[in-house]
Amino acid sequence: MNWNMPHKESHYQQQWGLRNRLSRMIRPETGRSVMLACDHGYFMGPTTRLENPRKTIEPLVPYANALAVTRGILRNCVDPNWDTPVILRVSGGSSILREDLSDEELTASMKDAIRLNVSAVALSIFIGTQHEKQTLVNLGRLVDEGEEFGMPVMAITAVGKELEKRDAKYLSLACRIAAEVGAHLVKTYYCEPDFSKVVNGCPVPLVVAGGPKLKTESDVFELVYNAVNEGAVGVDMGRNIWQNDHPVAMIKAIRAIVHEDATVKEAIEVFNQESRKGMVETSIPA
Ligand code: R5P
Repeated sequence: MNWNMPHKESHYQQQWGLRNRLSRMIRPETGRSVMLACDHGYFMGPTTRLENPRKTIEPLVPYANALAVTRGILRNCVDPNWDTPVILRVSGGSSILREDLSDEELTASMKDAIRLNVSAVALSIFIGTQHEKQTLVNLGRLVDEGEEFGMPVMAITAVGKELEKRDAKYLSLACRIAAEVGAHLVKTYYCEPDFSKVVNGCPVPLVVAGGPKLKTESDVFELVYNAVNEGAVGVDMGRNIWQNDHPVAMIKAIRAIVHEDATVKEAIEVFNQESRKGMVETSIPA
């Protein structure tokens, strides 16, 4: 190390690994990211259209800036030759059979995350639940380890089965707490009105999940369009992509909004054009 370096630069040098991992996921060309969420099985089991994860993931991965999975799916269903950065889900401990999903602990170690060469680790925090403290302590511990090894930590502001919690007041609180405890990145939900308040109160980049499948493609594109135009750096989306009958067309249309500033109307055009091609994809982005 050059000890004559000003403090700030040497700090950045120490953070090189962490910054490099982040920039593989949040593309420097646009400052945005399309993350593909396929980690649902950790509490939902073989979710509809994710029964065979490799079959679901393989056609979509060329269009994703990151792939979110558990280590079991990574080891068994993801080809190590694929070049997509991985966000490793490292929290769990409850299943869909229980009423309260918030009782989570860390389920994979930082050592394993590094061995798996992932670009970030992710865990859920459950603000306002019985296990709020435990999940925040999990986050703090993970951030300490992440800082030590240059591994970004994504906090997910989970709501369990209480989907009605997804309003600006709750999400602002949850996202801000995640950032205060040290998350480098936060995944939350889009909400109306006032999503910009959620963004403004959170000093680290935010991505939005899609939640359960929406009625129409245009509803999904509107959600993505509004989220990025109100300050999210992108999406970490699952069911609204791979539960659609044309998942590749969906992810391509979402990419157009996130990376090319397409409007909802333009995204529908991309979707219609791509879905006509069927499941056989011809052009893969660099
Ligand atoms: C929950 O299983 C995970 O955090 C998902 O990755 C997250 O909810 C995003 O997936 P979806 O867009 O299907 O909600």
